Amino acid sequence: MMQLQDILFSQGFGTRRVCSGLVQQGRVSVGSDVTPCLDPAEVLNEEGLVFTVQGVRWEYHARAYLMLHKPAGFECSHKPGAHPSVYTLLPGPLRERGGSAAAGVQAVGRLDHDTTGLLLLSDDGKFIHRMTSPRHHVPKVYEVGVKHPLSHSQLDRLLAGVVLDDDPKPVRAHACEAAGDLHLRLTLTEGKYHQVKRMVAAVGNRVESLHRSAMGGLVLGPELPPGQWRWLTQAEVLGLTQKTATTV
Ligand code: URA
Repeated sequence: MMQLQDILFSQGFGTRRVCSGLVQQGRVSVGSDVTPCLDPAEVLNEEGLVFTVQGVRWEYHARAYLMLHKPAGFECSHKPGAHPSVYTLLPGPLRERGGSAAAGVQAVGRLDHDTTGLLLLSDDGKFIHRMTSPRHHVPKVYEVGVKHPLSHSQLDRLLAGVVLDDDPKPVRAHACEAAGDLHLRLTLTEGKYHQVKRMVAAVGNRVESLHRSAMGGLVLGPELPPGQWRWLTQAEVLGLTQKTATTV
């Protein structure tokens, strides 16, 4: 049970003072009520709570787990250089929740500015660590457009392992298939810098387009167009953390 002003504060709607003000000014309603709740200290059960702030519907989430369909031309950085940040695609409260210096949700790993597809974001540090740690082998599926027609030898070498310039230990594809002459489907379990582009270059081809279609059993479907995000369901979060070793 929590006071309404604390619920708003925890979800990223500003300082406690700002949250209390929003309630007193009649900007917040709770559940299916159309009339605003005017008492910032009203005690409510936050689990499963739905509320409306300035006309926008919000669900209470103790921790945030989201998926975003990253469009091309966005950087996975809070301080981007040449392109806007993926964080600008999220509503303000998701960027503010937590209220500390490292506020808001963080991307689970990074995609290059020209890569599209599935990006997870969370404010749960343990979840981010688990999903990004190479020890947990979370499979990530990439749809790769390549410049030259794929050969058996290229696929074999990707599966056998290639040496990249920053580490003598070879990195191998967890799975790899030609989905078309110029379409490679590659599954990796690590997340090294520019890994797909460097692996494809190492076998004598070149990445022309790159899209991440799945992570640990979570598939990016057509219901989430580029630039859109949604909450993960509890089952999806459990699936990602409990069965991260399973293949997709
Ligand atoms: N590998 C890359 O080269 N780029 C990405 O964005 C992701 C994986």
